[in-house]
Amino acid sequence: MAMNQTIKQLTDHVSVRAFKDTPLTDSQKETLVTAARSGSSSNFVQAFSIIDISDAALRSELAAITNSAPYVNQTGVFYVFVADLYRQATLLEANGESLAGIQSMESLMVSIVDTTIAAQNMAVAAESLDLGICYIGGIRNDIDKVAKLLDLPPFTVPVFGLTIGHPVSKNNPKPRMPQKNQVAENHYPREQFANLGAYEEQTAAYYAKRGVNAQETSWSEKNILFFKEVRRPEVAEFLKKQGFLLA
Ligand SMILES: Cc1cc2nc3c(=O)[nH]c(=O)nc-3n(C[C@H](O)[C@H](O)[C@H](O)COP(=O)(O)O)c2cc1C
Repeated sequence: MAMNQTIKQLTDHVSVRAFKDTPLTDSQKETLVTAARSGSSSNFVQAFSIIDISDAALRSELAAITNSAPYVNQTGVFYVFVADLYRQATLLEANGESLAGIQSMESLMVSIVDTTIAAQNMAVAAESLDLGICYIGGIRNDIDKVAKLLDLPPFTVPVFGLTIGHPVSKNNPKPRMPQKNQVAENHYPREQFANLGAYEEQTAAYYAKRGVNAQETSWSEKNILFFKEVRRPEVAEFLKKQGFLLA
């Protein structure tokens, strides 16, 4: 396997959950948003927006929603990434066109993918500057309130936050699933992909021994707990309220 600085940075990735109380400079933020805005975009629709939550009171209201308050409040910057087809809706309306093409499930998927690519570009850029990052899907714990707090228009969805700052501490990278469970040639090998084998022991050992938040669990156990109930069922209602048909 080839190794260079970029690949090393990618394979060394860990989420950071403790930041110094040092705001990023305007120049650092300019670099980060430029990286985010430079990603690939489906049909070049650029269907995302980025909101810098610079107001401390607003940040703390958002933080309270996330279950990740300490590292949303104390960080270098907190961005909310918004899947966004409002601009296109405005264009279509001004031209007397139907909004059906924006309301579709496919368009929603396009906007969420564009948003995610932008955020990951920003994350990689931040790590190259020796900053730490953590995605904050916890904003969807109360997606309605987040939309109200940010004054979001129709055809927008707050997908996640990204907290970025100077790390106080960093965990060791989490062991990823073996390649044979995720990568194949030509066809989907059901048994090979679903049989996690040694990964169970590897993750049990990782969770038992890690310095912060050690637990007696494994990857499978965590995933059963995570998916055995429907999480955030109100998200679908929110998406409909924003104008998406989910069809
Ligand atoms: C879309 C998304 C949302 C996430 N939301 C949260 C969150 O709300 N709080 C948190 O502490 N970590 C969050 N994470 C971080 C994941 O827990 C983390 O990426 C995962 O456990 C793998 O660990 P690593 O990033 O250190 O390799 C999120 C990650 C992603 C991709």
